[in-house]
Amino acid sequence: MSDILILNGRVVDPASGLDAERDVLLRDGRVAAVEAPGGLNGAQAKEKIDAAGMVVAPGLIDVHVHLREPGQTYKESIKTGTAAAAAGGFTSVVAMPNTVPVNDSVAGLEWMLDEARGACVKLFAMPAATFGSNGEEITDFHALHRAGAVGFTDDGKPVLETRVMRTALVAAASVGVPISQHAEDTRLTGGCSMNAGPVAFRLGLRGMTIEAEAKIVERDIRLLREIERYEGLRPHLHVQHVSTAKAMELIRAAKNEGLHVTCEVAPHHFSLTDEAIGDYDTNAKMNPPLRAEADRMAVIAALLDGTVDCIATDHAPHARFEKEQEFERAPNGITGLETALGLALRVLHKGHGMKISRVMELMSANPAGIIAAAERGTLAAGSFADVVIFDPAAEWSFEAKRSRSKSKNTPFDGAAMLGRVAATICEGRVVYRGE
Ligand code: DOR
Repeated sequence: MSDILILNGRVVDPASGLDAERDVLLRDGRVAAVEAPGGLNGAQAKEKIDAAGMVVAPGLIDVHVHLREPGQTYKESIKTGTAAAAAGGFTSVVAMPNTVPVNDSVAGLEWMLDEARGACVKLFAMPAATFGSNGEEITDFHALHRAGAVGFTDDGKPVLETRVMRTALVAAASVGVPISQHAEDTRLTGGCSMNAGPVAFRLGLRGMTIEAEAKIVERDIRLLREIERYEGLRPHLHVQHVSTAKAMELIRAAKNEGLHVTCEVAPHHFSLTDEAIGDYDTNAKMNPPLRAEADRMAVIAALLDGTVDCIATDHAPHARFEKEQEFERAPNGITGLETALGLALRVLHKGHGMKISRVMELMSANPAGIIAAAERGTLAAGSFADVVIFDPAAEWSFEAKRSRSKSKNTPFDGAAMLGRVAATICEGRVVYRGE
């Protein structure tokens, strides 16, 4: 591992309250020093990177990715998924448990996190909240936490039964990690393949209502309140991929009440509406689905006003033969690791005036906090040398065929992006260099 000196860049590190020109020295996998320009002139380093005109920020952290290993490596593997992450500026990702088999055991978790899997960025995992993600009996939270679990989730499905969700929240509180909830009342969404509304009506498809999302968020917030009040615990609910104005209002109110709730938004939900489905384009099919413009704007307002804690991609690779089916049969999900930063900068920064420091907070500092990733999500001296360097003014078009992911299922093929990753450094190793 060689020392790296990053010169002349604009360091944006919201955790340290820094947005200024700085030189950064990385040594032995850690941030050794952050100094005003010229302050590290005497420092020796094997590699020097001239970051003039670039933003130098803590590596991005994605708390919601599907890497498909074990069991579905024809879609993605830990190696290819983390390569896509590095290309997108991410230095840490959190793998969801809906693999084959479901990641619900210590042996499974240890296998996934083993360095033999070939992850090129820091790999975290949230094992299943219930065995097989069947929603019936919670997994061994204490043993899984000792083995490295940073939270628990049945993602892809909700923890639907109130009794089970209560038990999961209590158990997660006792080990100090979140329950990450896929908020969908599946009793209301059977047979639905997109958002309910005029577009679904035109296409003749059954639609998921906004109530299906809101009902689970409302129920879970009530559980948080009850557990805090009557059991003296402070459970942490993390609401995944919030897509509706209604759920966002519930989360805002719960935060104001002081409950421990955090939430994430996926780039596709602030960039597109259900109109993107066009003529049954399965690359615009995911769960939760793309919503109406009013929901998209409510999500953007919540990103701007601080209600949303983080941006998470829900990177969900699927093979071409799976997506090339009738809309209702095609699986849910789109890839997202290589388009997240470009969309956040184009839609939120350029389109809605969000400061780059807030974008970095949403994509690095805050997600680090949600999974308690110590010494990540910041460039403070002593932290892990996880860094993204990007040109914030570069305009480019994403080309799916050049993706590092094994799968190309994205509605953003050919879409305009703002901000191009020049280099991604994870624990002092350059894991991606821009072309
Ligand atoms: O779009 C989605 N894809 N939503 C989910 O909940 C699951 C995910 C997947 O695993 O493909």
